[in-house]
Amino acid sequence: MAKFRTDPPIGIVGIGSDAPEGLLTNQDLERLVDTSDEWIVERTGIRTRHIADAATTTSTLASRAAQRALDDAGVAGAEVDLIIVGTATPDMLFPSTACLVQQKIGAVHAAAFDLAAACTGFIYGLNVAAGMIRNGTHTTALVIGAETLSKIMDFTDRSTCVLFGDGAGAAVVRETTDGSRILSTCIRSDGSLGEMLMLPAGGSLHPATHETVEKRMHYIKMNGNNVFKSAVKSMSEIVLRGLADAGMEAADIDLFIPHQANLRIIEATARKVGIPMEKVFVNVDRYGNTSAASIPIAVDEARRQGVLKKGQVFAGVAFGAGFTWGSAVIRY
Ligand code: ACO
Repeated sequence: MAKFRTDPPIGIVGIGSDAPEGLLTNQDLERLVDTSDEWIVERTGIRTRHIADAATTTSTLASRAAQRALDDAGVAGAEVDLIIVGTATPDMLFPSTACLVQQKIGAVHAAAFDLAAACTGFIYGLNVAAGMIRNGTHTTALVIGAETLSKIMDFTDRSTCVLFGDGAGAAVVRETTDGSRILSTCIRSDGSLGEMLMLPAGGSLHPATHETVEKRMHYIKMNGNNVFKSAVKSMSEIVLRGLADAGMEAADIDLFIPHQANLRIIEATARKVGIPMEKVFVNVDRYGNTSAASIPIAVDEARRQGVLKKGQVFAGVAFGAGFTWGSAVIRY
């Protein structure tokens, strides 16, 4: 299989994130469905998650995260010529959330589009942005993962409503001169397993009708057990592949930043890859699964906590609906 080209060097030069102020705790969920704090913590590691209010949309969170990433990079909105938003919860089907972000941050010279790879959206976005920059048509990209999953969560379904949360993370991606660079990206998918995790209605297959609303088809449907097994297998395989492409082994990375879906998935993946938990960044306890936003939020928190320092190498890996999965090995 073809390998990511590292010349010229392209890296993350700024990062930022945002989450709504509103919190939903396990105790709040105990009042909504037949569940318990003990069950949720033991099976998922999640304790609380951020939830958007009615006026806050995916583009609201995405724009705030994007502005923070631009500030971190010292780059003006007008310098951005590419915006990619990985999201499964766009404000609407069109215009794209990326175009809404463009307008909000004043990126008047940018091409903007959404990328549908569910939880793997940010890793896919890095791959696409790096390719477009290397191609020479673009110089300065904002790669954003942003979700308001609370808007598609069924708060009568205990098997899904305890898992997800809202948030956004963004990275400014451009050619670098300071040694920081993306060392590899690998992305894959398997459409034969699509039914395991889906939002059935609202598209051309099941346009919105009274019936789709009554049957609760506008909410996340998931076979949790199957997703769990596939996630561990696929994420461990693709991070090892990404490390090999970067000429590295698991022991060579400073930090592992897996998709924050479930603490047990994170632990099982780290074990399979051979990375000790001391090197694994975890914030799923405070965010739940924020899908495409999960990795950039975690990278931003790791940087702000001083756990990820300039010059260090981290590996990000994600898995999501489609199924899609992917890894990125990055010298920050
Ligand atoms: N509270 C209490 N009991 C529950 C709850 C709940 N919130 N949810 C399910 N249960 C019950 C089930 O009904 C079942 O009861 P039964 O044995 O009487 O039938 C029992 O708990 C065990 O259910 P399982 O589904 O077998 O539990 P499991 O240990 O697999 O955990 C979970 C379920 C947490 C959903 C797990 O499978 C998981 O995390 N899967 C991956 C989900 C995920 O991360 N998806 C997203 C990843 S991809 C992406 O991010 C888009």
